[in-house]
Order: sequence, then C-alpha cells, then structure tokens
Amino acid sequence: MSARTLNLMPSSEVMAAEVDGVDLSAPVESELAAALNDAFLDHLVLCIRGQRLTPSQYLDAARIFGEPQQQLVKHFLHRSEPLISLVSSVDNRDKAGDGRPIVRGPYWHTDDSFFEIPAKATVLYAVEIPRGRGDTWFANMHAAYEALDQELKARIANMRAVHKYVSRRAGARVAKLSEEDREKTPEVSHPLVRTHPETGRMSLYLNPNRIDRVEGLSLTQSDALLDSLYAHAFEERFHYRHRWHEGDLLIWDNRCTMHRASTDLKPGDRRLLHRILLRGTRPQ
Ligand code: SIN
Repeated sequence: MSARTLNLMPSSEVMAAEVDGVDLSAPVESELAAALNDAFLDHLVLCIRGQRLTPSQYLDAARIFGEPQQQLVKHFLHRSEPLISLVSSVDNRDKAGDGRPIVRGPYWHTDDSFFEIPAKATVLYAVEIPRGRGDTWFANMHAAYEALDQELKARIANMRAVHKYVSRRAGARVAKLSEEDREKTPEVSHPLVRTHPETGRMSLYLNPNRIDRVEGLSLTQSDALLDSLYAHAFEERFHYRHRWHEGDLLIWDNRCTMHRASTDLKPGDRRLLHRILLRGTRPQ
C-alpha cells in the first residue's frame, strides 16, 4: 500500500485519526511507514484497526514509529517479550484481591514524565476489551496551550516544573517501586511549555499525577497556578474519547497529549492491552 492509498479518517475535530486496511503483521514498506508517521504527527493519536499480532510482530509494528524501551515497573512485563508490559484489569498482585477490575492510569497523565527523558510515545494493542466500557480519554495539549490568553502564555513561558514518581499532588495511586527502581527516579525538572521536536508546535507539558511543584514559586502560588492550568486542560473541548475494539493498535504522542483510562469497568470485565513505550528526547 502506498501513502496515497492510506485509508485515514479523522476520529474527531479535536484530535486522533484511524487507519483501515493496513496489516502490520507483514513487513511495512518505507513509503507506508512514512505515511503512518506523518499521520501520527498530524493527529497525535493514531489507531490502526483490525490487527492480529503476535508479541514479536507487535514489537516490529511499534518500531515503525520509534525505538521500544525498557519499562520501569517490572511486575507488569510480558513473560517472553519484556519490552512489552500488560495493562490488565485482572492483574491484582498489588491490590487487596477484592475481585474489582483494576484500572491502571485512571487520572490524567502523560507517560514517564518523572524521567529526564520521557517516552516520546506509547503504543497499546487491544487484546481483550469489555463491550462498551474501558475507553481511554486523550487531551490535546497543543490546543490547550493555544487557547490560553496571551498574559498567561507570557507568564509561564520560561517556567519549569518538578516531576516526581510520587508527587505530593498525585491524583491516583502509583505502582510501588523496588528500592533499586526508586534510585532510578530522582525528581526532575521539565519546562511547563514545550516545543515539539518534530513539528515545532508548542504545548502545555502537564502531568497532574507527577508534577510536584512549579520552580521559583511558593507552594501556595505553585498549587494555584497548577490548579488553574489543570482546570483549563480538563475542559472537554480539548478531549477525545477512544472507544476500543479488539485488534486496535493505538499510538499516542506523549509530548503533546495527556490521557486517562475510564473507570467504568464492572466486576468480571476483562480488559487486556499490551503496552510499549518509545524512546524520547529531552523536553525543550
Ligand atoms: C496508560 O495509562 O498507559 C493506559 C491507559 C488505559 O489503560 O486506557
């Protein structure tokens, strides 16, 4: 299939697109790979429907967009392909075992911002999806930035925020780390407004689950600023809701989006996605 014949449909006016008629279990030619990468950069969230992939074919498919990297939390890793982790509603190793489905990532976040070099993108492959539930929400952070008034844009232009694995403002519980992994996650500082390294577009770089404070402000001032930026980014006009189908391969750009999983799973629901993180660059 050539770029000209890529069957691409926008999913909403805010962001996201879906592609039909591409089989990622077979080798992908460079022209198609380039078209998929362009679509990913243009739409921020790209869904390639109808895949049937083994874990190693899934890794090859993710490599179309970048380099898969090791993930921090080890107890979710796939047994035979450790670059893949499992997002599973029935993995209750770190829960009370009360049978309620587990939702990882129920609060707005962008992946791995607690690292100096956060993941550029996340890829999820839908293995098992409960009918009509377990959607994933996305926020377009270019649009959120562009909608700020000029005064606020000027105020935050050079501000930086401290991101931590366990932030005092975290909205959701985070997975426990081993002593060794805790040492790999000292607090880091990132700009509040970042420029996309490939498109040059600016976006708010927020992570309500990991930002502890804004540098150079008192905690009271920092909390007030973060609360107002979050309230703005949480407005539905910036959001897209992805309704999963089994066989979806979904990639999103962590540099300019946030996401959260819906918390509407019912007892007995089985939701399993395979997750890959792609290596990024230092936020600028
Ligand atoms: C994630 O936060 O990486 C997973 C999102 C989801 O389960 O929908």
